Amino acid sequence: MTVSINQVMTTSPVMPVMVINHIEQAVPLARALVDGGLKVLEITLRTPVALECIRRIKDEVPEAIVGAGTIINTQTLHQAIDAGAQFIVSPGITASLLDASLTCGVPILPGVATSSEVMRLLEKGITAMKFFPAEAAGGIPMLKSFGGPLPQVTFCPTGGVNPKNAPDYLALSNVACVGGSWMAPADLVDAGDWPEISRRAAEAAALKK
Ligand code: 3PG
Repeated sequence: MTVSINQVMTTSPVMPVMVINHIEQAVPLARALVDGGLKVLEITLRTPVALECIRRIKDEVPEAIVGAGTIINTQTLHQAIDAGAQFIVSPGITASLLDASLTCGVPILPGVATSSEVMRLLEKGITAMKFFPAEAAGGIPMLKSFGGPLPQVTFCPTGGVNPKNAPDYLALSNVACVGGSWMAPADLVDAGDWPEISRRAAEAAALKK
């Protein structure tokens, strides 16, 4: 199923950023998040099993919208799409990754932290962007400042977002959703505590956009 960038940004208020170390964790983790109400999942390409995790979750958790994160070059872009990723997330953007992503056939959510980076993406017609690393790069005041001269851009702030500050991010007119790892931290994943992960997902899914 193909998805639009709009679906990626607006299906849930929170996008879990997932780091999966063991292949057998992939499906129960995705199932726990989806059961809690979070359908749009970002699986980061930070572990050797990440591509196989994307394949399995696509096969076994069909309600999920499965994206690949931490895409930093064209090689991993194509590997992720071959594995079935329905969207792509990158922490930043390079000229070659931007060119490849414009023709890759799936939506991309590229990372930005400055107005010049925002403007470069706007020139290519991209209006949905990840604001990364959100807290370190200026957080809510920075997003408010972007909103003045660059009101046509919608952001997904990620990096340092947590249950306490997420509502304030989501209250901004230029924020569609936030990303974060707090629903599925390594200790809960390693313990296989799927009920607690589902509970956190449900809490996140109930946050208002
Ligand atoms: C990351 O880089 O892992 C994501 O931006 C998530 O950041 P977080 O762990 O601060 O939520």
